[in-house]
Amino acid sequence: MKGAILGIASAAVLTMGSAQAATATRSAFGALSDGTKVEAVTLTNGAGMSAKIMTLGAALQSLIVPDKAGRKDDVVLGYDTAQEYLTRPNYFGVSVGRYANRIAKGKFSLDGKAYTLATNDGPNSLHGGPRGFDKRVWRIDSVASGADAKVVMSYVSADGEEGFPGELKVTATYSLNEQSELRLEYRATTSKPTVLNLTNHSYFNLSGNNARDVMGNLVTLHAARYTPVDATLIPTGERRAVAGTPFDFRNPHRVGDRIRDAKDQQIRFGRGYDHNYIVDGAAGTLRPAAVVSDPVSGRTMEMSVTAPGIQFYTGNFMDGTFFGKSGRAYRQGDAICLEPGVFPDSPNHADFPTARLNPGQGYVNTMVYKFTAK
Ligand code: BGC
Repeated sequence: MKGAILGIASAAVLTMGSAQAATATRSAFGALSDGTKVEAVTLTNGAGMSAKIMTLGAALQSLIVPDKAGRKDDVVLGYDTAQEYLTRPNYFGVSVGRYANRIAKGKFSLDGKAYTLATNDGPNSLHGGPRGFDKRVWRIDSVASGADAKVVMSYVSADGEEGFPGELKVTATYSLNEQSELRLEYRATTSKPTVLNLTNHSYFNLSGNNARDVMGNLVTLHAARYTPVDATLIPTGERRAVAGTPFDFRNPHRVGDRIRDAKDQQIRFGRGYDHNYIVDGAAGTLRPAAVVSDPVSGRTMEMSVTAPGIQFYTGNFMDGTFFGKSGRAYRQGDAICLEPGVFPDSPNHADFPTARLNPGQGYVNTMVYKFTAK
């Protein structure tokens, strides 16, 4: 037994000491039109994967993953230049805050005090408001190569920014290991009681460079229930069983098989899938939430999360007017977003998992994306 433990330890030392270690490299990523410089950090492992994270929005700007034949392609949507993320915002790969998803009518109260946020999605507030964390340039705190290549980015949000109380200190830590796991951890502390819901908004298209839409992707969601919404995509408060509905992904289903099932009002409201699933198991523990596979490229992504919920969104609002990195138009159904967090509009639903953070508490939201190809 002792020998076995020693064996594992020396293998780890060998991996770290050899060329196998994953690397982190810092580089310039151009500038915004007002001259603000943007930087990027690229994490690369020996298995052919690399993740580029830029300081604008602490965003996953590109994610290169080999397919079953070893061909490397970019599996996330986005733009080539930082400025495009501001002029044509679609939340491609960004860190979303302070409140990912919607707050009904931009209103909530905390300890008897009413707060009003800007409404930027019909009658509601979406993704932290007009200048959320996705539109801020984050600081690079540390960059490290090793068994886990890692970058820590931070942002300090002033008390009252975008209408939210408390000064919020946030970090986003991305790391990549030799097992082709990309891990992302959001942490935050506040100076006053506040609400928050940080997430990452990557648009995955496992065909690589947006070669095909995602309708033929097989999706599994480890969730027996989801939260239905009204016509403005605000949860009604119900927790509905997925059994017998187009929302049942407990076993793998092709995305396109039931997405046009207009008999289900929820499909009509979402224009497809745009719903929060209640992830099975105990929130706060890292547990499997989703699997996405592309049968053509052979790429599979397995996602584990600590959050209570995950928003499953199939790019329903993309209309072919955005031209991304691959020089291709991004159209409805071209990507899958899986956004772990508390439920949408939680500050207005006392029986939803709380979005409240008090001074002295530490907020953590961890998500792990593991890639394989066969
Ligand atoms: C929301 C969609 C929204 C999209 C914006 C998703 O998180 O659920 O309704 O259109 O973000 O990119």
